[in-house]
Amino acid sequence: MAKRKRPVDQTRAFYACNAENYAKHNPSPGFTEQREGFAAQLPPGASVLDLGCGGGHDSLALLKQGFKVTSLDGSPELASIAQTRTGQDVIVADFLDLKFTNEFDAVWAAASLLHVSSNDLNEVFAKVVRSLRPGGIFKASFKEASQDWTDDLGRYFCAMDVPKLVQLLKASGFEAVTIESHPGVGSDGKVTQWIWGTGFLQGKSSIKASASS
Ligand SMILES: C[S@@+](CC[C@H](N)C(=O)[O-])C[C@H]1O[C@@H](n2cnc3c(N)ncnc32)[C@H](O)[C@@H]1O
Repeated sequence: MAKRKRPVDQTRAFYACNAENYAKHNPSPGFTEQREGFAAQLPPGASVLDLGCGGGHDSLALLKQGFKVTSLDGSPELASIAQTRTGQDVIVADFLDLKFTNEFDAVWAAASLLHVSSNDLNEVFAKVVRSLRPGGIFKASFKEASQDWTDDLGRYFCAMDVPKLVQLLKASGFEAVTIESHPGVGSDGKVTQWIWGTGFLQGKSSIKASASS
């Protein structure tokens, strides 16, 4: 009997087959604004992990601002495009296999952790925490949805809403948690609401926390 593909495998297959097209798209204005707000909170030369870097647009923008950027993606096809775009090595790894300890001042996860199975989100957030230095900042975006779902392109998305994101961040150990939200159009052409969560780890750092909730 043929084995049924798991939703996360279908997502992987989508990025493998559509890497070139996907990587051609520039981040939408809402995303650029979020990245600029994130970058403005970092001290000069901060070390940033671009988690789920896709085609590397954000990695390149952050590199140009003088940050020390480590780019990581689970898709070898997209990682190769990001490598060409940024001119530096890109790590190919699954979010569940993150092995960094105390290495980054900041983790940027734009529209990437939304593909993590709801059952695995706590584990991935714990690995993000382990990757960060004391006082480190984490910013991640998700599509707002009341339940796990699959889009018309076959990509899996975990359920996420503001209370759940706040709870996940706080339960993982983040403080000064803030949420921002804006509408956007996904690769499937559909309008969705994006929610961004930002949190800080306890500890001394020169990173600027903005208003907290
Ligand atoms: C919607 S794209 C976003 C890419 C990029 N951050 C951007 O804003 O353009 C999602 C990215 O997450 C990566 N991804 C999805 N699931 C992953 C996993 N479990 N481990 C590592 N990367 C994953 C995909 O390969 C893809 O590059």
